[in-house]
Amino acid sequence: MNSHPELPVSRRDFLKTSAVAGGALALPIERAAHAAGKGQLRVALIGCGGRGSGAANQMLNVSSDVRLVAMADVDEARLGTSLKNLEAQHAHQVSVPKERQFVGFDAYKQALREADIAICATPPGFRPIHFEEAVRQGKHAFLEKPVAVDAPGVRRVLAAAEEAKRKNLKVGVGLQRRHQPGYIETVKRLQDGAVGQITSMRCYWLGNAREGLERLPGESEMRYQIRNWYYFTWLSGDHIVEQHIHNIDVINWIKGGYPVRAQGMGGRQVRNLKIHGQIFDHHFVEFEYADGSRLFSQCRQNRGTHTSISEHVTGTKGSADLNDPQKRFSITGPNEWSLRLKEREDGHQLEHFPLVDAILNNKPYNEAEQGSKSTMTAIMGRMATYSGKLVEWDEAFNSKLDLLPKVFAWDAPPPVLPDASGFYPVAMPGRTVAL
Ligand SMILES: NC(=O)c1ccc[n+]([C@@H]2O[C@H](COP(=O)([O-])OP(=O)(O)OC[C@H]3O[C@@H](n4cnc5c(N)ncnc54)[C@H](O)[C@@H]3O)[C@@H](O)[C@H]2O)c1
Repeated sequence: MNSHPELPVSRRDFLKTSAVAGGALALPIERAAHAAGKGQLRVALIGCGGRGSGAANQMLNVSSDVRLVAMADVDEARLGTSLKNLEAQHAHQVSVPKERQFVGFDAYKQALREADIAICATPPGFRPIHFEEAVRQGKHAFLEKPVAVDAPGVRRVLAAAEEAKRKNLKVGVGLQRRHQPGYIETVKRLQDGAVGQITSMRCYWLGNAREGLERLPGESEMRYQIRNWYYFTWLSGDHIVEQHIHNIDVINWIKGGYPVRAQGMGGRQVRNLKIHGQIFDHHFVEFEYADGSRLFSQCRQNRGTHTSISEHVTGTKGSADLNDPQKRFSITGPNEWSLRLKEREDGHQLEHFPLVDAILNNKPYNEAEQGSKSTMTAIMGRMATYSGKLVEWDEAFNSKLDLLPKVFAWDAPPPVLPDASGFYPVAMPGRTVAL
């Protein structure tokens, strides 16, 4: 909480708790007029749930020149709760009167008109639509990850990102590990050859899940699925895309590229209720990079099982473990090194400093390509686990399988419907066409 609105919270403050010297990275945001010359950065929050509200708070923490001026959600109550919390956190920086609170499927368009930057934090299925409109209206954007749930969505985001560059708009993507000094330092060492040539990688998101939600009496199918969005592939992309993208992205970052093919397996062992929609509870994917090295990726959401959220690399001269449970980053071999953090670095906060700085001081900033291609990597993994086939990057990236509904309205049919007993279709490897 920034209780001194006249004092911007500096990035240095957030680095104090980490063991990494933050000197080179520290940048209190200057009160320079931003590109539009208005001196203040007006923010619209689109998707006022847990993460959107968190991101708004963190963007407001960066500088007292950042103001929340508009909010959009399909659910009026969630918007109201978020506004109340943000007002309590930033009394002097939040001004969202009734006429700038927008509710419904088109609310994003109206909120965008009021702002310089959009925080796009709805379920990811909507992200390409919202980002395209932000760019069309000439607005900067912070896109929560993942940036899409299917290949057509990824292509839309990439095209809009190119247009954003032409319009000098800045784009951040919520892959916060890329802003955490522990990761930055370790990735740099690996890219400088600390473990020699990298031959294999592993990454994990083995943990728990958010609960599935029961349908409310009289609730339409569309409304139910959007409220219970995590469990529908057209909305969340499945947890390999929605969550495990973080770890997959770290490996892409280390490799400086994206895999050329993938094959894997997955399914549902504990998700067998109607509230569990259609997503899997575990995926194992073997991704192959152009140099022949392989990433073994595991994600599972199942209480009572081993947990790990981490990345690991093996090379010809040693190995590296990133973000182990003791908050340690380490390299073994002739270039042995390790870093033990006192606390987990708050990447959710750190990622907003360079974005706001780029806007206020007109510096180039566009994270959309890496965000889109890591999203695509995770989608390719899902295509492999859903289909049970070997999937090539080019066919995955060019897939025409569009998961989104044609019409967004509460009484319109969503793209998946329950059968007569109320259960949703679940992918079956060997039979499902997943791309
Ligand atoms: N970077 C991270 O570590 C991190 C962590 C959590 C969530 N996320 C991402 O943030 C996004 C939101 O997740 P969340 O946990 O906040 O979910 P949430 O369910 O708490 O919030 C989503 C909000 O979007 C609203 N919404 C749904 N459809 C909408 C539409 N078409 N237009 C406007 N509003 C709409 C919902 O009513 C809800 O208020 C997801 O993409 C998720 O993957 C990122």
